[in-house]
Amino acid sequence: MRKNIVAGNWKMNKNLQEGIALAKELNEALVADKPHCDVIICTPFIHLASVTPLVDGNIIGVGAENCADKVSGAYTGEVSAEMVASTGAKYVILGHSERRAYYHETVDILTEKVKLALANGLKPIFCIGEVLEEREAGKQNEVVAAQLASVFSLSAEDFSKVILAYEPVWAIGTGKTATPEQAEEIHAYIRSLVADKYGKEVAENTSILYGGSCKPSNAKELFAKPDVDGGLIGGASLKVADFKGIIDAFK
Ligand code: PGA
Repeated sequence: MRKNIVAGNWKMNKNLQEGIALAKELNEALVADKPHCDVIICTPFIHLASVTPLVDGNIIGVGAENCADKVSGAYTGEVSAEMVASTGAKYVILGHSERRAYYHETVDILTEKVKLALANGLKPIFCIGEVLEEREAGKQNEVVAAQLASVFSLSAEDFSKVILAYEPVWAIGTGKTATPEQAEEIHAYIRSLVADKYGKEVAENTSILYGGSCKPSNAKELFAKPDVDGGLIGGASLKVADFKGIIDAFK
């Protein structure tokens, strides 16, 4: 059966010392009160090598928020999937709407990133989701189907290592959450696309997370939906009490 997962996305927050303190505090809280789901924290690159040895790897997985679309070489400022993996990180967020919008990451670029992540043993947390105008025009299904092309070029074996995250862009950092019904409707649709492509068994085993203004007060209702397998958490992952409150939705 598929896993329930709560993953944090720190984005461009916390300097090194603050990030270490946050990871330590979260680790202590979860060692003392074991989660009933998988927990992942995705941090800025510079935190990875310090944070991975500091957390209990049986309780908290660590991931990056991005990786390069090239193997290595003269790409000033980039960080490769191999470098991420060498820190002990096991996951990488790819295709986040902020990367798509502000850094012009296309389906083709993301296809390369996904392949390189998998080739280096990293599990992609692959994000899809529509912007407000697309939702208002009723185009959300079309949009997510097109975005999935980056992972639908994979073999079934590789695809089974991918975690999907549906994040409606209009809900990210806005305080405006999708209703549990809206989330369930599109998660079920996404799962049906996976079933069409890879078969029912792969689809049933794919974790599909919801992201966008998820907080302790709405997590339980969202995660109770049959096709919502957890959350990708931005703002609320920066405070242990909030992040743990969301993790505890699975208790
Ligand atoms: P948010 O961000 O929880 O702050 O809305 C979610 C995300 O962008 O992953």
